Amino acid sequence: MEIFKEIKPLKAFLKEKTPAATIGLVPTMGALHHGHLSLIEASKRENALTVSTIFVNPAQFNNPEDLKKYPRTLERDCEMLRQAGCQVVFAPEVTTLYEHEPTVTFDFGTLDKILEGKFRPGHFSGVALVVSKLFHIVNPTTAYFGQKDFQQFKIIEKLVEELKFDLQLKMMPIIREPDGLALSSRNKRLSEPERKKAALLFRSLTEAKKLLIRGEKIFNVKEIVNQNYKSVDGVKLEYFELANIENLSPAETVTNQTILLMAAYVGEVRLIDNLLMEE
Ligand code: PAF
Repeated sequence: MEIFKEIKPLKAFLKEKTPAATIGLVPTMGALHHGHLSLIEASKRENALTVSTIFVNPAQFNNPEDLKKYPRTLERDCEMLRQAGCQVVFAPEVTTLYEHEPTVTFDFGTLDKILEGKFRPGHFSGVALVVSKLFHIVNPTTAYFGQKDFQQFKIIEKLVEELKFDLQLKMMPIIREPDGLALSSRNKRLSEPERKKAALLFRSLTEAKKLLIRGEKIFNVKEIVNQNYKSVDGVKLEYFELANIENLSPAETVTNQTILLMAAYVGEVRLIDNLLMEE
């Protein structure tokens, strides 16, 4: 596995190795888990060359404490990627991707102001900025992202469409722990008792979905989810919303095009999860 820290040698390598081959890109912020590895596996199945990037992107953190505490495990990540058969890793320093404070920002209309965007202003602009840089540098045939960050995927779809990036996007299913907790790099920050409480996110999503299938009114289901959270110490629901999968506009009725999305604090760790009605 080749590891690059600089842009020029990476581009030279990719140009030489893959004049006609397909490149799969798996962008990550490191602290890898099996969710990331499922993206690597998909990319390996579908491409001659798999490139993964490891970069904790400061531009997408609206909370400096969160950026400081984000787990950084580069050596372990590289070993996991090597074992998974990833051929190329790009792990730049912050100054390599940001020579100065970024001045370019993105505005996706309502899409980046709702749900995550409402609670993390500027987050999706930072994501779009770094993903654009990575797309330009790697020039992938296909880029792989996880469904856990469903809104992020919609933002990147819009980015690709607006900026005419010549690539395909693939969203891969959420990988879960046996108790349903969605795999996330942030799970590493949970204490043992918090880790147990964190299963509440998936539990309330599945309960809400069951109630909705039975015909319970959206308003009542939201109330039940709220009450579930109030009954557990040390957890705080930030939002639970139903949205249309096309543009994430609020769902007024439930169809198989509806997604349930949730963000909650477990202790000081902010977690997100979602569930498709048609899953
Ligand atoms: O999903 C992530 O890990 C990040 O938001 C991404 C896409 C790697 C951009 O920094």
